[in-house]
Amino acid sequence: MDLRHVLTPRLRLDAVVPADLDEHVALMSDPGVWAHLPSGRHTSPDQTMTGIGHSVRHWATDGLGYWSARLRHDLPGTPLRSGALVGTGGCAVRVETAWWNLYYRLTPPAWGLGLAAELVSAAIDAAHTVHPDLPVIAYLLEHNAQSRGRAERAGLSLVWRGPDAGNPDPAAVRLVYADRPLAGELLEKVTAHP
Ligand SMILES: CC(C)(COP(=O)(O)OP(=O)(O)OC[C@H]1O[C@@H](n2cnc3c(N)ncnc32)[C@H](O)[C@@H]1OP(=O)(O)O)[C@@H](O)C(=O)NCCC(=O)NCCS
Repeated sequence: MDLRHVLTPRLRLDAVVPADLDEHVALMSDPGVWAHLPSGRHTSPDQTMTGIGHSVRHWATDGLGYWSARLRHDLPGTPLRSGALVGTGGCAVRVETAWWNLYYRLTPPAWGLGLAAELVSAAIDAAHTVHPDLPVIAYLLEHNAQSRGRAERAGLSLVWRGPDAGNPDPAAVRLVYADRPLAGELLEKVTAHP
């Protein structure tokens, strides 16, 4: 099975590659996709290319990583046309740890349509196929209600709540969701991770 190219009902998911740079710069520099973490907004193409480089390595090393998500057809009622990049995400193994990090980020005009649901479902299925013994984990900010809703509707459960390591806002609260209970040592790594 070639997980680099996956179809969902409305999305074409392709492994992130360097040629995606311009589309990713547009997405990652949009303040709208960083409303819950303004410090995360990309401010230079180099920063975006660094992230793409990480994705390329995930695919090469682990056989799975983040996808670019593009529309298979025009999306009625929106300005989004067939082929448009609507987001990025998937499951990737954190380099220094042993879990699948579930990630999702969509352009605001694509919110509220169930597209993130399609991406997340494909990502969890892929992670369970490639390495079922690694837990799928999503960590997110407590005030990001949309992201919480998506994790919960994907069947993940809240396993931890505490400070958000690495966040310039000391009041930020991190929630950790997982597809199974986490052993103490792993939970420590997940919660300390920036
Ligand atoms: C988090 C994020 C991906 C969620 O996007 P989303 O579009 O709200 O997510 P979903 O695909 O789950 O869509 C759910 C909504 O679409 C509605 N919907 C419409 N058609 C649907 C369909 N065919 N299938 C499923 N849901 C559908 C649902 O009812 C739901 O609405 P609700 O939120 O009012 O209950 C998006 O808000 C985002 O990219 N945010 C910025 C980046 C971010 O915070 N990422 C997470 C970092 S950890």
